[in-house]
Amino acid sequence: MVEPNVSESKNKTLFERAKKVLPGGVNSPVRAFEPYPFFVECAVGSKMYDADSKAYVDYCMAYGALLLGHAYPEIQEAVKNQLAKGSLYGAPTEREVEFAELIQSASPCMEMVRLVNSGTEATMHAIRAARGYTNRKKIVKFEGCFHGSHDNVLVKAGSGAATFGTPNSLGVPEETTKNTIVLPYNDVAALETTFKACGNEIAAVIVEPVMANVGLILPVGDYLSILRKVTESYGTVLIFDEIITGFRLALGGAQEYFDVTPDMATLGKVLGGGFPLAAFGGKKEIMQQISPLGKVYQAGTFSGNPVSATAGYTILKLLSQKKSHIYPQLEKNTSELAKTLIDQTQALDLPAQVYNIASMYQIFFTKEQVTDYACAKHSDAVMFDAYFRELLRQGVFIPPSQFETCFVSAAHAPEDLKFTADALIKALWAASEKRKNP
Ligand SMILES: Cc1ncc(COP(=O)(O)O)c(C=O)c1O
Repeated sequence: MVEPNVSESKNKTLFERAKKVLPGGVNSPVRAFEPYPFFVECAVGSKMYDADSKAYVDYCMAYGALLLGHAYPEIQEAVKNQLAKGSLYGAPTEREVEFAELIQSASPCMEMVRLVNSGTEATMHAIRAARGYTNRKKIVKFEGCFHGSHDNVLVKAGSGAATFGTPNSLGVPEETTKNTIVLPYNDVAALETTFKACGNEIAAVIVEPVMANVGLILPVGDYLSILRKVTESYGTVLIFDEIITGFRLALGGAQEYFDVTPDMATLGKVLGGGFPLAAFGGKKEIMQQISPLGKVYQAGTFSGNPVSATAGYTILKLLSQKKSHIYPQLEKNTSELAKTLIDQTQALDLPAQVYNIASMYQIFFTKEQVTDYACAKHSDAVMFDAYFRELLRQGVFIPPSQFETCFVSAAHAPEDLKFTADALIKALWAASEKRKNP
């Protein structure tokens, strides 16, 4: 492995320039880490290459957006063809219709769908639609779930908000969040108590069916079915935020994987095939409240833009055709990486919990099982940092925070996985050393 000369690092120079024009030198806080992040020159398949020409096997995959890896040839080709025909029309296209039809056929709850540009927009509008439909104000979210960076949901939020100590952001007025009730995830008693107290006032419950923004936390037992039953009996709209799990746990996302159908869902990341695109949708009777049919207003200049819609259409077509091969292979590769972590933490006698599902995995350095945000916060951040840094040194990139999840893509070849397994073993050893000599 060739170590870049840090004193001459182009990454470092770029960061110095970036800090002068971008807050923290980045355009999204999760990208920042000490002493400076690497700047990407290009990416293809399983790998990214930085400004110092160092290669990384990538398990961040744009925070889960790239299920097929970087620069997937068929998506690139389709996008190039579309670009030649124009990049934005401000008028409907056939592509949007056939894309929406594909989303509808893949996602169990999607009777109707609206395309937007980001996950943040999708959850914001889904909540507005649920409030408009029920004519109620309150919503329930779960501690550590991240639903984007809009005011209603920036309460005890995960991801960068948790990493940088701003789970309740400045600039969000109390008046906006007073209708947001925050509950611990996987806690049936807390859910039932809240619904007994004010269930008839709750417009929506929004949940990441698998929590992937505070590390990886799985639903325990039939928690998602219980959520379904409770919300149904109070006429509350259940929204699955499938921005991460959609098209990742299965073609039909968590809804298919767990066989629980919410009233609404939000989709993004994988859906856009590497381009900015997201969607919200669900039951016809709710979606028919959206303008111009109904009185819930939602609009966007770039919504359904033909380039993103083409990338999204192409990836959904590919996934529909190859799902019987892609999903089992991803699950197998991911569980093998998880097994490496489990075996090595046992060999080193480290306090650790390893979770994996489909193509997602994460480690927490803690003795106790992690079932909610409070447990996740008990894990040893210093050990995680040592683990992250050793992986980075060896050319394996994972999200820099404990409060994120690692993503395996279809582009990860056997040699990448072998290289990664060796790197994981060394990184756990580094974490173990850090534990002994903090
Ligand atoms: C579950 C979930 N919902 C919503 C969002 C927001 O999506 P975006 O970053 O596209 O606005 C994210 C982003 O990470 C997410 O993980």
